[in-house]
Amino acid sequence: MKKIMVTGALGQIGSELTGKLRGLYGTDQVLATDIRVPESGPALDGPFEQLDVTDGKRMHELAKSFGADTIIHMAALLSATAEKNPLFAWNLNMGGLVNALETARELDLQFFTPSSIGAFGPSTPKKNTPQDTIQRPTTMYGVNKVSGELLCDYYFEKFGVDTRGVRFPGLISYVTPPGGGTTDYAVDIYYKAIEEGKYASFIAEGTYMDMMYMPDALQAIVDLMEADPSKLTHRNAFNVTAMSVEPSDFEKAIRTHIPDFQLNYDVDPVRQAIAESWPDSIDPSAAIAEWGFQAKYDLDKMTADMLEKLREKLGK
Ligand code: SER
Repeated sequence: MKKIMVTGALGQIGSELTGKLRGLYGTDQVLATDIRVPESGPALDGPFEQLDVTDGKRMHELAKSFGADTIIHMAALLSATAEKNPLFAWNLNMGGLVNALETARELDLQFFTPSSIGAFGPSTPKKNTPQDTIQRPTTMYGVNKVSGELLCDYYFEKFGVDTRGVRFPGLISYVTPPGGGTTDYAVDIYYKAIEEGKYASFIAEGTYMDMMYMPDALQAIVDLMEADPSKLTHRNAFNVTAMSVEPSDFEKAIRTHIPDFQLNYDVDPVRQAIAESWPDSIDPSAAIAEWGFQAKYDLDKMTADMLEKLREKLGK
């Protein structure tokens, strides 16, 4: 991984990943692309091109003229947005993925795309969900993610494309808000704790899901992409997680910094149903064994850092 093209570079993950990769591999070595063109911001600190990922020809041309050796394909709709417009989600999530895989096959690029805890469903074992298990998701996002995992493995087996991926849990970050995910409550809660001292969670008390802080997620991508391929038994995609938590766990953690913080509930049935179809906790032991996955932030350490960084950002 030396010359990297990133799709969805203005999204929740992409916006921070681009900066991290530029820091590690050199500013000019990372081409940021997104369907939106920013007027300012860190994406423009280095090479940037507008790209709609459903345009496979332009994706190929951009990767070729940049001289990329790696494509990191992040552009996708998240779970709740995908449920509102399932056909559009299929076309964008799968169309974009096929174009990125074809670009990787044609230009012999290393390949990363994220899968998700959304790739599991109600018939999956809910606790300590194994790496290899039943995957019958009931959301369009989950259908896309399982199809994507299978397609990435197919491109590796059939064409020798070096495809790698992780199943991300909910990702918590302070730079760019997530858009339309079921786990977004775990980001919103920190903003509202600082801005209003209270939060109404759209996910019900007692609903456990896996989460991870963005610095650990970014490091996981780099570590997996740099891993010795001879050590990888799995490829698409590895379970990774840092914590299994429910809304009142955040309440307790935030109260150690903001004692008056109030958590209430205003449950959204659509996102609640999605959350209930996902695991309570997933088992990351394959990622630990095969490429040394490690999360540095637990809930308390993440909460301290999130609140500090958000206070700076929001000027509070
Ligand atoms: N954070 C994502 C979502 O909620 C899960 O991958 O859609």
